[in-house]
Amino acid sequence: MKTNELERVIETLLSDAHSTETLMTDKLKEYAEKASHNGVTKFLEDHQMETKNQINRLERAFEVGELKHNDVGSPIIDAIISENDVFINGCEEGPVRDAALLVAVQRIQHQEIATYGSIIALCKAAGLMEISRLLQESLDEEHEIDQELSIAAEKFINVQAHQEAA
Ligand SMILES: [Fe+2]
Repeated sequence: MKTNELERVIETLLSDAHSTETLMTDKLKEYAEKASHNGVTKFLEDHQMETKNQINRLERAFEVGELKHNDVGSPIIDAIISENDVFINGCEEGPVRDAALLVAVQRIQHQEIATYGSIIALCKAAGLMEISRLLQESLDEEHEIDQELSIAAEKFINVQAHQEAA
């Protein structure tokens, strides 16, 4: 692959990640409003702050690599969000909906992890080390959030099971 071809691939993936994180800030706000437990609301609000930092890192990546930001959108994320809406809207307010909201975020996280991982690998191959270092910070954050989401979702599902058994 020629260098400029590789840079075009990186530009597309960076643009996709930027669209995803931007969409995510709106979705996190919406999901936080639908949560009933304060802990879930707080978790989603905190993650909104991290998402803003991740957007800043992506913008910095375009700058340092002198790469073009294409408005590609993110059809994969659009599809995940539509599917999330189906199961979130099927739940009444309470612990199961809280768990569903956390799972909804986690599904988007997994896509973000895959995209950041690919960008980092390609940037290393292209010698764009500053971008790879910058986005490694975001990838580490995404992994951490992913783990926290698994623990929190499990906790809320258990609360519901406990209430039903009582
Ligand atoms: Fe993110």
